[in-house]
Amino acid sequence: MKNIVLLGFMGTGKSIIGRRLAVELGYRFADTDQIIEERAHKRIDKIFAEEGESWFRQLELETVHDVSGWSGYVISTGGGVPLQEENLKALSGNGILVSLKARPEVILRRVRKRLGKRPLLRGPHPLSRITRLLTERQPFYDRAAFSIDTSDVDVQESVRRIKIKVLERMGENS
Ligand code: S3P
Repeated sequence: MKNIVLLGFMGTGKSIIGRRLAVELGYRFADTDQIIEERAHKRIDKIFAEEGESWFRQLELETVHDVSGWSGYVISTGGGVPLQEENLKALSGNGILVSLKARPEVILRRVRKRLGKRPLLRGPHPLSRITRLLTERQPFYDRAAFSIDTSDVDVQESVRRIKIKVLERMGENS
């Protein structure tokens, strides 16, 4: 059974939508950030602060490699996962890649309360930072099979839209 892999920027709803999608499809759920935190016994912001981003990216690479070997999972990935080609290769080997999108203002509203968990968005002018990072990263997120914009729809509706497209694709390939 193929995995369903959610890619996308911070605050696009990967974790919350992923959990719900997994329940509805009878899949298991995994979140790469959560696995990294468990393995490192540290929160992500601490890993960034104490070990640096490149160490975090290495842990991320190893985690992605491991979860790519599982099957029957909905996998929610950290926003930077698609930036490493090796990650995309591993995840697409046994998974359908779905990209979640949202407008920058919506992203800021969603992540504002937990900016601590997002070291890349700290500092002044988070909105322009989000906009710039989104533009830089769009080509990587576009490597997914399809995308869903979550800006104006609730979790339930996002899940419904993803399910339709995923089931269509599974039908085509069976
Ligand atoms: C990151 C996104 C975060 C987390 C880390 C780096 C990124 O995950 O992996 O702070 O590079 O976009 P979420 O997308 O789950 O917030």
